[in-house]
Amino acid sequence: MEIKVEKGDLARHPAKAVIVNLFEGVKSPGGGTGAVDKALDGAISQLIAEGEIKGKKSELTLVHTLGKLPTPRVLVVGLGKQADFSLDTVRDVTGTALRRIRNTGATTVATIVHGAGIAGLEPEACAQAIAEGTVMGLYRFDRLKKPDEDQTQIDAVTLVEFDQSKLEALRRGVERGRILGEATSHARDMANEPANQLTPTVMAERAQALAEDAGLECRVLERDELETMGMGALLGVAAGSVQPPKFIVMHYRGGANNTIGLLGKGVTFDSGGISIKPSGGMEEMKGDMSGGAAVISAMWALGKLKAPVNVTAMVPATENMPSGSATKPGDVLRAMNGRTIEVINTDAEGRLILADAICYARQEKLSPIIDVATLTGAMQIALGPAVTGFMATDDALAEALVKAGEECGERMWRFPLVDEYRESLKSNVADIKNTGNRYGGAISAAKFLHFFAEDSAWVHIDMASTDNVSKNKGAWVKGATGIPTRTLVNLLLSLASQGK
Ligand code: BES
Ligand code: MN
Ligand code: ZN
Repeated sequence: MEIKVEKGDLARHPAKAVIVNLFEGVKSPGGGTGAVDKALDGAISQLIAEGEIKGKKSELTLVHTLGKLPTPRVLVVGLGKQADFSLDTVRDVTGTALRRIRNTGATTVATIVHGAGIAGLEPEACAQAIAEGTVMGLYRFDRLKKPDEDQTQIDAVTLVEFDQSKLEALRRGVERGRILGEATSHARDMANEPANQLTPTVMAERAQALAEDAGLECRVLERDELETMGMGALLGVAAGSVQPPKFIVMHYRGGANNTIGLLGKGVTFDSGGISIKPSGGMEEMKGDMSGGAAVISAMWALGKLKAPVNVTAMVPATENMPSGSATKPGDVLRAMNGRTIEVINTDAEGRLILADAICYARQEKLSPIIDVATLTGAMQIALGPAVTGFMATDDALAEALVKAGEECGERMWRFPLVDEYRESLKSNVADIKNTGNRYGGAISAAKFLHFFAEDSAWVHIDMASTDNVSKNKGAWVKGATGIPTRTLVNLLLSLASQGK
């Protein structure tokens, strides 16, 4: 699909559908909406006067133009109250409006640049949010099913602006938004893929293909190399599966400073292992590699954006399966740094594979180390589907992460690394055990990782609450969210601009 920027008059645009907008409470529209209203002999202001159009956020009103305009239809989208308006509104109304238009069968769309008018936001940021909303909101995962007979698709979206001086900024914003939107689609694709299709081997192939496309280096470590390196924790998780584990390493070099480590959990299916999960909802565990998918996709975006930063990504990829060769509760594994782990619950596997990744990242002197994982059900309980939780050893980094998330509509909330909870991880037979107290489970999981991160500057993002959404809403489409791909890119760009 194409996203373009054109100078012109929205009311004269020949697209199959035109999107205009309205803030709540506005009685006589101005700007692009005003021009379209005028060309429609006041049809929009009449619908406002009659109370059909109120301008409430995401309210949609389809008006047929019956030959008065070159376009056959105009969609009026509500922006809500001007006081609540933000780039999130821009991104979300774009997704909602375009899905509605896709249902009409219109293949080309021209839109007003939401936010750049009376709301007075930066045109470049608005264009970026529109491009993100377009790619994210129209996302479909339909590779595995026969298309509906009447399924249609939008081929082109054009941002129409009459002010020549804004065009260049709009084009820059569209390009950036398109890359961030597509990165999100790559992450969603991997997470939506069923586990029989996306094995660790296939995930590594995806990483290699994305690396090649964005000009990055990618190397996949095989089981024998992992044995030589001493990654006993990862190998212990992989022991129950017939699928060989893969340790994906990607390098992006665009800066002059230290190399940042981006680590992602790549459990392509989490059955729980011998501590097997209940069958209800187990299918959702095909998405237990969402952290790794976000990391790989963020790397792709950094390459495409030519970001001035150095990053190494590490994604341990494996299945967690029960079998005669699987790790059993009570077994002791030895991580790459030589520390021993008593496995109490084989379903606490994410922290095991990340322990080895963190050891490797420390050995490679990556700093800071940022890991991303669907780690605990406890985080899901704590935050629910609207917020992602994280822990950090560094206040400035934590602050930068919250800001990076806020910028792109991916809310992040910091949890404390409570030292007391380390106690519950004491083992009789090993240096540490892999589960602690049920209460505060997201924090004790983080404390387990903290034991391996030692004194590194480190952030742990537990995205178990936000890896999936249950319905279409704004830029979000039912299924995998692709969170926190855009947050990671924003964070790395902000660290780059601070010279870190
Ligand atoms: N992948 C799960 C966590 C998860 C749960 C992610 C729900 C997304 C949605 C993780 O490997 C796991 O099983 N964690 C256990 C840990 C427990 C055994 C200490 C959990 O949270 O129940
Ligand atoms: Mn598990
Ligand atoms: Zn898991």
